[in-house]
Amino acid sequence: MSQESRRVYPDADALAKGAAVHLMRLAQESVAERGLFTLALAGGSTPRKLYGLLASDPDFRDFPWDKTYLFFGDERHVFPSHIDSNYLMVSSTLLASGLVPTPHVHRIRTELPDANMAATDYDVELHMFFTQEMRLNQYPRFDVILLGMGPDGHTASLFPGSNALEEKERWVVANWVEKFKSVRITFTFPVLNAARTIFFLVAGADKADMLHKVLATKCDTAVYPVQQVQPLDGVKVWLLDSEAAARLPRTISL
Ligand code: 6PG
Repeated sequence: MSQESRRVYPDADALAKGAAVHLMRLAQESVAERGLFTLALAGGSTPRKLYGLLASDPDFRDFPWDKTYLFFGDERHVFPSHIDSNYLMVSSTLLASGLVPTPHVHRIRTELPDANMAATDYDVELHMFFTQEMRLNQYPRFDVILLGMGPDGHTASLFPGSNALEEKERWVVANWVEKFKSVRITFTFPVLNAARTIFFLVAGADKADMLHKVLATKCDTAVYPVQQVQPLDGVKVWLLDSEAAARLPRTISL
């Protein structure tokens, strides 16, 4: 059974703060219930503020980092020191704080020359970490997966018209992205839909049209990849700023 909710914040700073509050609450609840918190991070630019806040804002000093395990929902096939690397973005914000125990950071080894090899390597790492009781229908059950959304309706590195959209078995795949003429490594839909909670962080006016299509337009079939994110037994929460939500019917504003 899945639930869906939305929160609209006045701006990107308030969005980051609101997301951090939700995330810390879920982390503390997960640790209380299961002894650990598994979190898959999103890439791109929107979550950067959130990661910075978690690293530096005293309001989040009770975040249970010692029981938190970090993963990456997708990555560009570039060296971890490359400017386009999601790992570099996370390490220069959240990890620079030294709050997260290094062995708890599970990054995608994009230095491997073959993206398929890097995807398989990460798939194996996830299989080793997520033991049977930490799975839902044979897929890893993350406590929280953070996702963004592109103006084209992509999420993670699941782009319109790309092969990975059809993947039903593997947890992680390499995915050629025609518009960037490059390959990405990404979680597949079965993994996203096995999560307990999906947080979509979406900010900026350039997302308003797609959000309207995805959230305010009734359509049975998934036209855009982001619409295929339907947790089987979990919660989907849209955390938006007012620019991104500009074309949506009035919702709950904080
Ligand atoms: C990535 C992301 C991607 C991102 C969207 C939104 O690696 O780029 O995982 O799915 O979330 O492209 O990106 P922005 O936050 O930069 O708008």
